[in-house]
Amino acid sequence: MAETVQPLHPIEKRILKTLSSRGVLKLEQITEVSGLAVDQVRRGIEWLKAKNFVEVRETDTPIFSLGAEGQVVAAEGLPERRLVELLKKMGGSSEISSLSKSLGPEFTIALGNAKKNKWILVGKNAISLTSISAIEEPEEQLLEKLRREEILPKESLTEGEFQTISRLKNRRPGFVNEVHEKMIEVQLSDSGKKILTTVDENEIERITPEVLRSGEWKNRNLRALDVVAPAPLEFPGRRHPMRLFMNEVREAFISLGFEEILGPISQTALWNFDALFIPQQHSAREMQDTFYLSNVHGDLNKYREEVSAIKSTHETGAGTGSLGWGYSWSDKEASRVVLRTHTTAVTISYLSEKKPDEARVFSVGRVFRNEKSNYKHNPEFYQIEGVMVGEKLNLRNLIYILTKFYSKLGFNEIKFWPTFFPYTEPSLQTMVFRKDSGKWMELGGMGVFRPEVTIPLGVKNPVLAWGLSLDRLVMLRYGLNDIRHLFGANLDWLRNLKITRD
Ligand code: PHE
Repeated sequence: MAETVQPLHPIEKRILKTLSSRGVLKLEQITEVSGLAVDQVRRGIEWLKAKNFVEVRETDTPIFSLGAEGQVVAAEGLPERRLVELLKKMGGSSEISSLSKSLGPEFTIALGNAKKNKWILVGKNAISLTSISAIEEPEEQLLEKLRREEILPKESLTEGEFQTISRLKNRRPGFVNEVHEKMIEVQLSDSGKKILTTVDENEIERITPEVLRSGEWKNRNLRALDVVAPAPLEFPGRRHPMRLFMNEVREAFISLGFEEILGPISQTALWNFDALFIPQQHSAREMQDTFYLSNVHGDLNKYREEVSAIKSTHETGAGTGSLGWGYSWSDKEASRVVLRTHTTAVTISYLSEKKPDEARVFSVGRVFRNEKSNYKHNPEFYQIEGVMVGEKLNLRNLIYILTKFYSKLGFNEIKFWPTFFPYTEPSLQTMVFRKDSGKWMELGGMGVFRPEVTIPLGVKNPVLAWGLSLDRLVMLRYGLNDIRHLFGANLDWLRNLKITRD
């Protein structure tokens, strides 16, 4: 099997080459020799380290230099040396009191150290030099070395010198300063050495017009790209998960041969309630359930025929096969403007306008209900609405198409359950099985529009209709337990949410 080419970045190659045959190099040295910028070297070393091509050692080296007082003693000598010099001048011995006077406050230290070094003999009143007083002590040698070299990294010192320097440092603050230098040392690893032998010096780094024009690309290899190299995470703008899901809904219906219809968010009660054969006394119409726009009325004159048919249907049934609700219908009430409580208002005004014999339409939109917000309700939410109109359509077709729709979105465990709506007969609701809680969750309602709905609008064929919760599906898709989570500024969640389906 051919060995796979290890893609190397030009920076990596430069560093590897710099290291080859040079042993251990400090970061600064690599920068100097390679001609790369420090940042590039740092980055390149990180990459190479991750690939095990280099070994990196981070060290923390103490560096010594003379402090302010150290400068003085290096020039004038340590107190004990000055004592010796003084004694020498005085012919080899002197009285303690006069020595103490000349040396001042340093006399005690000078005396102690000179005695310890065996440079002097201390008598009752006098001090005299010994024969070894001329020998330089290690501390003096080091002071001299520090003065000469200015800085001494710990690694340049012998063990003895290091101990001496520590002693000097401890003698007095200001004698010796210590700073720490962090250092990065790099060397090729075994696999680094191996990879170095495969580096193609002649690789084309970038495809430029020249490379193409000259035909060079035919004879030279192109640099391989490392597509799994670690890269910083980016969080560019993206569509909100709710929007993404809505688009999936659209795609699902469109793939089933449907067309999208749109409608306004505010509607007259006529389309939201009356045309759906919901009596004007119905509790759903009350203020605690429905948002009304204050003192706004729509113009119902445009729909004179439908309005009068709706009126007589409510009052008497008017040939729809029912007896109606038996009250006096008010067109003023029907002209009140509401924030639509369901997207069925969009469907209904569409049916009234087009009076289709056949249709497949859907809409996705926001609806409003005057209720408190909690983990599964918000006063505004989204519905997925639609109808199919056709001569031969029946409940089975409805179940079929919605099962198809849900399975396109990845929901396969669906069941249908009888229920009641004033405007459909028969009526069903759909439920989906939640694996996480092991419970069935209600998704929406549907049914076949009653003749009391279709006849006044002038629609002759059966109409299969549904209005489904979008928010619940979104919760299921993204595994949310609280609907409000979708609408907060949960940036972490929004950024990290996986939007593809398993
Ligand atoms: N409008 C109903 C709701 O909001 C759903 C529905 C639509 C039911 C169409 C039957 C037919 O819950």
